[in-house]
Amino acid sequence: MKAWDLWGGTGTAFGSKGKWHITVLDTETNATEVHQAEFVILCIGRFSGLPNIPELPPNYCSKVFDGKVMHSMEYSDMEKSAAAELIKGKQITIVGSQKSAVDLAVECAEANGVKYPCVMIQRNPHWLLPSNGFLTSHLGHLYFSRFAELLLHKPGQNILYQLLATVLSPLRWGISKFSEIYLQWRLSLKKYGLVPRQSFLEDLSSCQIGILPDNFYDKVEEGSIIIKRSQSFHFCKEGPMVGGEDKPISSDLVILATGYKGDQKLKNIFRSSVFQKYLAPSPASTIPLYRQVIHPRIPQLAVIGYTEGLANLPSFEIRCQWLVHLLDGNIKLPSIRAMEKDTARWESHMKRYGGRNFRRSCVGTTNIWYNDQLCKDMNCNPRRKKGFLAEWFQPYGAADYAELAHQKH
Ligand SMILES: Cc1cc2nc3c(=O)[nH]c(=O)nc-3n(C[C@H](O)[C@H](O)[C@H](O)COP(=O)(O)OP(=O)(O)OC[C@H]3O[C@@H](n4cnc5c(N)ncnc54)[C@H](O)[C@@H]3O)c2cc1C
Ligand SMILES: NC(=O)c1ccc[n+]([C@@H]2O[C@H](COP(=O)([O-])OP(=O)(O)OC[C@H]3O[C@@H](n4cnc5c(N)ncnc54)[C@H](OP(=O)(O)O)[C@@H]3O)[C@@H](O)[C@H]2O)c1
Repeated sequence: MKAWDLWGGTGTAFGSKGKWHITVLDTETNATEVHQAEFVILCIGRFSGLPNIPELPPNYCSKVFDGKVMHSMEYSDMEKSAAAELIKGKQITIVGSQKSAVDLAVECAEANGVKYPCVMIQRNPHWLLPSNGFLTSHLGHLYFSRFAELLLHKPGQNILYQLLATVLSPLRWGISKFSEIYLQWRLSLKKYGLVPRQSFLEDLSSCQIGILPDNFYDKVEEGSIIIKRSQSFHFCKEGPMVGGEDKPISSDLVILATGYKGDQKLKNIFRSSVFQKYLAPSPASTIPLYRQVIHPRIPQLAVIGYTEGLANLPSFEIRCQWLVHLLDGNIKLPSIRAMEKDTARWESHMKRYGGRNFRRSCVGTTNIWYNDQLCKDMNCNPRRKKGFLAEWFQPYGAADYAELAHQKH
């Protein structure tokens, strides 16, 4: 395999004579079966199954925490009535500052009001959008049109695009700054000490921008949500203790909305240490997937659902269509080296714009550029709009690619 120039030896889906051996465990009987397959598609999810549980220093406090600790995944898995019963009349602390954390905080605040305020421990606040308002309704025009993408350096772009992105960089900075100022004003972020360190563009480029539940800041204002910013926390008998405070946060229940270890889950699925290493070369790299679907050095295998997009489900769907074309033999892959060069370019792009969260592998702000590549591979027209103005200035979204599956090629 090491000597191959092309994926699987021929640059096609079913190039080699090799087969995957898949060991399946029946969790009820504990019996295992081994199946063989010519091609494997991994759709094991990135935000499920393997929660990220923060590692805390042991024995920091003399007595262990009296209450219950659970991950947001366990909470989401509960029946609605059981979950409501669990949080009712409890002092709850939530760790995290992203979508799961803010959704949960509002749920707890609605259940318990100011009598038992919900405390959030936020390590880094993020730019979360209100569900309505100027920025939310014009986000597409500002960031997700072809013109908006001209402001960014894109992987594999020619010199003209590079020049344009450089010349237009003050405009790129200005739009991001405008978004920040607007959100600071609209949500009174300064008052609550929740102005993020990173730029709006950085959060958007690492798919870290979500929609706030409608009444989140109303709950903060009325005191049914209390936010504590801290880089670390420890457990004491009464609850978690954050840096800089001398008393623990009294809690009955701590919910860790601390995300998932999607990369570890993908790595764990392989028995071969060689493939494990290919998928997780180092903490300083992304998982290198060509077209965000196949690994250049792992033949006859595809991954759907790892790299995040503008909206996850439609992004995964267009990748599925690309994969069908590959399986049908309609796409001839370039050499392994060329694919590696391409994945390296995407990695540099993610590092450039996604900052310290580049490992989230997000193609959010270059969604059109990325989809153009998939469309060209599939021999479909990447220009999805009618008319020049619409093509350059209208936001692109999932609906623009809806007819792709039915197009002749
Ligand atoms: C609370 C929450 C809300 C979300 N809401 C949205 C939303 O509104 N819109 C959106 O686009 N995204 C949302 N997401 C992100 C969401 O995870 C994905 O968009 C969507 O679920 C991805 O689908 P998937 O099939 O790739 O993965 P999943 O839905 O995670 O499915 C993975 C499947 O693989 C199975 N599996 C895993 N490992 C193995 C194994 N070793 N062997 C066999 N089977 C295995 C799992 O059991 C599971 O059935 C949300 C995530 C969370 C946590
Ligand atoms: N309704 C919806 O659409 C919906 C609802 C929930 C989730 N989702 C999606 O599901 C995915 C996962 O979202 P998520 O919110 O569960 O996870 P996430 O986006 O990965 O966020 C994890 C949060 O935990 C924090 N964190 C991680 N380790 C920590 C530690 N040791 N100490 C303190 N904080 C720590 C992170 O802080 P830092 O920022 O400091 O790293 C971050 O705020 C996302 O794609 C999201 O959009 C969607």
